[in-house]
Amino acid sequence: MSGSVLINEVGLRDGLQNQKVAVSLQDKLRLAQALVDSGIRAMEATSFVSPRAVPQMADADELFPGLPAPGRIAYSALVPNLRGLERAVRAGVGEVALVLSATETMNRRNINMGLEEATVVCEQTIVQAREQGIRAKAYVAVAFHCPFEGPVDPDVVLALGERMFTAGAQEVTIADTIGAAAPTGVFELLRRCVGEWDAGSISVHLHDTRALGLANAWAALQTGIRKFDASIGGIGGCPFAPGAAGNVATEDLVVLFEGCGYDTGIDLQELKRAVAFVGDLLGRPVGGRSSRWLALQDGKKKNQDAREQ
Ligand code: COA
Ligand code: ZN
Repeated sequence: MSGSVLINEVGLRDGLQNQKVAVSLQDKLRLAQALVDSGIRAMEATSFVSPRAVPQMADADELFPGLPAPGRIAYSALVPNLRGLERAVRAGVGEVALVLSATETMNRRNINMGLEEATVVCEQTIVQAREQGIRAKAYVAVAFHCPFEGPVDPDVVLALGERMFTAGAQEVTIADTIGAAAPTGVFELLRRCVGEWDAGSISVHLHDTRALGLANAWAALQTGIRKFDASIGGIGGCPFAPGAAGNVATEDLVVLFEGCGYDTGIDLQELKRAVAFVGDLLGRPVGGRSSRWLALQDGKKKNQDAREQ
């Protein structure tokens, strides 16, 4: 084994926040259970945002306390401001994720604040969370490319990450929100991050818009980073970032990392059940780049079972 990699499943939040189909609370909880059964160890389960901004997450207050018991799994939830933190605390959240975009326009579109205001709100929310014994992490979203302002200066990303750590964040997640990064850019930015901060306190959030999600994940791994966000079936995308396709698929990352000798703790067979369940919920086929191969493995197994009988 080459070590272990932590996959933070964000399907229930990033994955479902942008779907046309409304998924019921009960079905979200069933999906959470299927993911827990597959061995997922970390999950961003919902967001405590304005229900007017993101109606798909309006059930956060009920959903969070109903999640399968945390045993091996650590749950988190996204909060955009102090109001979100208050709601999260009431729902029993132990870890919050703040969302700070690296550009003025993306912050305005996403959380209706300018860059400096958003930074200050994130800092205040992190301070409050830590005072209440809650773990805090911060996304630096559109860290490579902004759909409104184009390429993002890595110095800005480093400076925002530094402000989040100084405020008390225990982790910073570098996010390619629209899937516009390429492996060399990912490697260069994350190598700088690892030079500034502890690799264990950095994670990466990738989208697979241009089929570069896995190559980008591999590039990030080479810098020493071992924490990756991913979404079951590759579903997802920010409703406020035009051009964003789905997240890198959880099953693809498992195939990649396990294939290279890294332990994810995830059982691919169980994970496939969760992928199929998401497809049923959304009423359309879902799945990452490995989905055809995974389906073929099922066919082969059925044939083998039939021969053995
Ligand atoms: N949860 C629920 N409601 C909230 C809230 C929260 N965290 N924060 C603010 N609100 C409510 C206010 O109470 C107010 O309600 P009212 O109109 O019924 O009085 C309303 O939202 C507007 O509040 P305001 O402070 O003026 O916020 P805004 O309209 O400027 O919106 C955000 C700011 C951050 C609340 C909103 O843009 C948001 O929730 N964005 C989330 C975006 C997102 O999830 N993106 C995808 C993930 S990156
Ligand atoms: Zn995302």
